[in-house]
Amino acid sequence: MAMVCLSDFEVYAKKYLPKTTWDFFAAGADDGTTRDDNILAYKRIRFRPRVLRDASVMDIRTKLLGTEISFPVGIAPTGFHQLACPDGEKSTARAAKAMNVCYIASTYSTSSLEEISAAAPSGFQWFQLYIHRNRAVSKQLVQQAEALGFQGLVLTADLPYTGKRRDDVRNGFQLPPHMSLKNLEGAFEVCKMMILDPSVTWNDIHWLQSLTHLPIIIKGILTKEDAELAVRHGAQGIIVSNHGGRQLDGGPATIDALVEVVEAVQGRVEVYLDGGIRKGSDVLKALALGAKCVFIGRPALWGLAYKGEEGLQDVLRILRDEFRLSMALTG
Ligand code: FNR
Repeated sequence: MAMVCLSDFEVYAKKYLPKTTWDFFAAGADDGTTRDDNILAYKRIRFRPRVLRDASVMDIRTKLLGTEISFPVGIAPTGFHQLACPDGEKSTARAAKAMNVCYIASTYSTSSLEEISAAAPSGFQWFQLYIHRNRAVSKQLVQQAEALGFQGLVLTADLPYTGKRRDDVRNGFQLPPHMSLKNLEGAFEVCKMMILDPSVTWNDIHWLQSLTHLPIIIKGILTKEDAELAVRHGAQGIIVSNHGGRQLDGGPATIDALVEVVEAVQGRVEVYLDGGIRKGSDVLKALALGAKCVFIGRPALWGLAYKGEEGLQDVLRILRDEFRLSMALTG
C-alpha cells in the first residue's frame, strides 16, 4: 500500500490495530462534534494565493522558545504509545529527533522519562504534566524532567476529569497488564487514572514556577480571557487545544479559537495549536492565522502503528513536504 497522505495511515491503523486500541485513539467526548469540527473547520477556510513570487527557495525552519526545528510541526502529548508499537515512546523520541521536531512526552507514557530521554539524547523534548492529587509525585516528575534535559514543561489544563468517551466505556478500556504508566510506577496504590487533581487553578502555575526553571507552556486554552490569564501568570507559551475533542464536546474547533487567542496575546508569548491537522495546508492555515507551530496527536499514533519509528517519520515527512508545497502554491 502506497502511503501518500495521512489518511492512508489512518486507514492502516484502523485495519490492523485491535478494536479497543483503535477506539481509544479515535475517541472524542460525547457525540464527537468538537473532534470532528477540528477537521471540518479547516475545510471552511480558503487561501488568498499570490503568484509570481519566486518559490524556488523556501526556508521552512522556525524556532520554539529559541530552539530551532526543521519545520513547524511537533508531536502532541498522547498516552500509551506501546499500544501502537512495541517500543512505544522510545520510537516516538527517535523519530522526532531524526526529523528535528519537538516531541512533547505525556505523563501517561508507557516508557519512563529516562527511557525517552536516553532513546534520543539531545533530542528536543518537552514534558507534559497532569497535576496529581499527590503533589510530591508531580514535583518529582517536573524536577526529573528538568534534570534529564527536557526543555519545556507543558501543563495540560483541560482535564480536571476525563471526558466521557463512549466507546472506551463500552469496551471497558484499560491498559493491557504487560504495559504500565512508567512515570507513575509505584506512586499510587489506587487506580492511577483516577487521581488527577481537579482543584488545580491559575495559582498552581506559581507553584510550578517555584519547582523549575523550565519555561511553562499551557495546553488547552480556547478563549481570549484564559489567554490573558496565561500571559499574566507567566506562561511562556500557549497551546490552543481542545484535547482533540476528547474533553468538552461542544467547544470550538481549535483553528476557529486560534484567532481570538492570537489577538489577545499580541505577541507577548508564543501561540501553538493542535487538533485536526491532517495536511500540510492545514499547517499553513494555522500559521497564517498566527500559530508559531502546530502539533499532531492521532496522526503520530497512526504512523507508529504503521511502522514504529519509521512510520512516524513517514507521517512527518509527508506533512513537511505538503506544507512546503502549500507555501509555494500560495506564494
Ligand atoms: C491525547 N491527548 C493528550 N493530551 C495531553 O495533554 N496528555 C495526554 O496524555 C494525552 N493523551 C492523548 C491520547 C490520545 C489517544 C489522544 C488522541 C489524544 C490530546 C493531544 O495532546 C492533542 O491535544 C490532540 O490529540 C490533538 O488532536 P489530533 O491531532 O489528534 O486531532
